[in-house]
Amino acid sequence: EVSEGRSVELRYDGGTHRLPVFSGTEGEEAIELKTLLGSTGMVTLDPGFGNTAACRSEITYIDGDAGILRYRGYPIEQLAEGATFAEVCHLLVHGELPTPEQLDELTARLRDNAAIPAGLRDLIAAFPVEAHPMASLSGAVNMLAAFHADACDPADPAQVDEATIRLLAQLPTVAAQIHRRATGQDVVEPDPSLGYVENFLNMTFGPTEGGVDPLLVRAMDLLFILHADHELNCSTATVRVVGSSQADLFASIAAGVNALSGPLHGGANQAVLEMLEGIQRVDGDVDSFIKKVKDRESKTRLMGFGHRVYKNFDPRSKQIKKLAQQILSRQEGEDRLFELALQLEEHALSDQYFVDRKLYPNVDFYTGLIYRAMGFPTNMFTVLFAIGRLPGWIAHWRELRNDPAARIARPRQLYVGPKERAYPGR
Ligand code: MLT
Repeated sequence: EVSEGRSVELRYDGGTHRLPVFSGTEGEEAIELKTLLGSTGMVTLDPGFGNTAACRSEITYIDGDAGILRYRGYPIEQLAEGATFAEVCHLLVHGELPTPEQLDELTARLRDNAAIPAGLRDLIAAFPVEAHPMASLSGAVNMLAAFHADACDPADPAQVDEATIRLLAQLPTVAAQIHRRATGQDVVEPDPSLGYVENFLNMTFGPTEGGVDPLLVRAMDLLFILHADHELNCSTATVRVVGSSQADLFASIAAGVNALSGPLHGGANQAVLEMLEGIQRVDGDVDSFIKKVKDRESKTRLMGFGHRVYKNFDPRSKQIKKLAQQILSRQEGEDRLFELALQLEEHALSDQYFVDRKLYPNVDFYTGLIYRAMGFPTNMFTVLFAIGRLPGWIAHWRELRNDPAARIARPRQLYVGPKERAYPGR
């Protein structure tokens, strides 16, 4: 616990420490304090606090020890149970759940803006078939700024509102067209008679007799809700940093898409599936795999386990496991990969090695299996993450833009290179 003033009293498990506050100069004690604080990982007295990606935010609350996640104060479990993704979009972006009239208006605007500009449609049709869908998504979102130049002024609230709606409405259309392109299929245009998620699935997989399966619609909606925000992770911090330069919403979101494309962030559920497929290739031998994970030398990792923030469990994973059970139990015959995932979880949770390291399934562990059962190819998984995360990114960008004290981000650098050296001449 730190109280600030002319001096700082630091109370921690081992005792109390009182140190003067230094500003600018790096006195010995200041360095000692920073080291101490750094090692607790709890707090920073870096005067560059406001200059880094760190921020104050009213959007999402996470308690990593208790496994709590709340959007604008509402527990994720309750939202997952009762809300729709459209309601969550409104909640994250505007801070309140929508009234029925607001929800009707949002639904109508999302529907009316779902078609993407014809020029962008042509561009997507020209992307290489073998391109990774995240590379295509990044390019397409950047291009949205070019096609929506009338919604690019970050200082004009009406334009920000337009950009918000167009992004939310068009990202699923862009994603579906990227999938159609990558799989050599004709584009399916948005159908105004369908709801947001139903429309996305219809554009992705094409119309089917009897329409889109309602269970898949609910599953996708729920997965989007569970991915909608997660405070200051890599992509959200990126959106804020880029937005702090007053880059428009489209450019900032494209930056978030790029951050998410990295395997350590949005690629984790793909990695889980690849791990399960790898185990399946060696006769589903979970015991040997677990042994390999415990052998540090083998560098084998248990993907989809543990989380940088959650110390005991990831509250999203409970909902996702339930969903996986619902979706996968309907599959014809048993799903061997799901069986393997369940076995792996059981082994890991009862093995002291993993218990000591607080490793438990995270949001990514069962997500890939559900996407796969729905018919998405592995390289589309991160695209789905991006659609879900979009309202969170937008909310963070808007929060930053509405903060009168916000300044351009300039993370603090600690120079560790050589001292001054004389140029030796030629
Ligand atoms: C996320 O949902 O963004 C991931 O769990 C990564 C994170 O929050 O650090």
